[in-house]
Amino acid sequence: TEESKLLLNHASRFNFQLPERKQNSHKGSYGEVIVIGGDKGMLGASVLAARTALYSGAGKVNVSLLHPAIDYDTLHPEIMYKDAQHLQMKEEIVVIGPGMGHSDIAKTILSKALSSEISLVIDADALNLIAANKELNDLLMGRTASSILTPHPLEAARLLHISAKEVQQDRCKAALLLADKFKCVVVLKGSGTIITDPEGRLRINTTGNPGLATGGSGDVLAGLCGALLAQGLNSFETAQLAVWLHGAAADTLVEAGVGPIGMIASELPEAIRHCLNAF
Ligand code: APR
Ligand code: MG
Repeated sequence: TEESKLLLNHASRFNFQLPERKQNSHKGSYGEVIVIGGDKGMLGASVLAARTALYSGAGKVNVSLLHPAIDYDTLHPEIMYKDAQHLQMKEEIVVIGPGMGHSDIAKTILSKALSSEISLVIDADALNLIAANKELNDLLMGRTASSILTPHPLEAARLLHISAKEVQQDRCKAALLLADKFKCVVVLKGSGTIITDPEGRLRINTTGNPGLATGGSGDVLAGLCGALLAQGLNSFETAQLAVWLHGAAADTLVEAGVGPIGMIASELPEAIRHCLNAF
């Protein structure tokens, strides 16, 4: 039926193929991701996104924290740390927003990212900054390069200048309005996540469970989107496969007895890797 075509279910995995891992490939074949965010007290959000990008196959992963309290992840020495104020933003995929805060530096760096020609995943505080600042709003509207927006209902409400209740009353409508307003692929999160694009295509995800209702799971989704873009999927494919995988990974954790109660976001990256290789 028409309806089932719109639903992302177990079989949907096979609609999106990541490029084959060729014998003679190298890290450059799988792209580079930079996660920008992490102001004081919120470093974990960016680190979670970066770890996820690593576990989901990006060739190189970097973090740029606004609060330079750490420049090394002992658990993941593969991740490089770069000064956010000196980023080139030329070839990488940028995931911007997790734990970014609302500082003037955050605004400046977001403005630079929005003005760049690279693909962006825009999440969390980057969305809040855009909702609150006309110049940033206009930069996003004027972008020619692709962007994926990943708001939860309150972030979507701020971007549309309506209430979260209104977003939840008609989630499809809110997602379509956002995609049309910003000419972006939009992921409206929450149980039954909606994925839309400016042409009005719409998908509803069926994977995932309330184990994901835990701090940091959205940051994991943002990092996963970055890694799939880096490996060559387009924005609409990326958004669909990322949302599907994120939920499927949480479902495998529940099957293994790791949740829904007490599932933590840090457990998702390995589960996502398993789904990417097994399904
Ligand atoms: N069923 C399926 N999926 C769910 C469920 C559920 N019941 N509950 C949550 N999820 C998924 C959402 O679809 C989304 O992918 O978990 C993720 C939650 O993402 P966020 O709401 O962004 O949560 P979080 O990662 O904790 O955000 C961290 O950033 O966005 C800001 O204000 C936010 O301070 C918070 C921080
Ligand atoms: Mg979030």
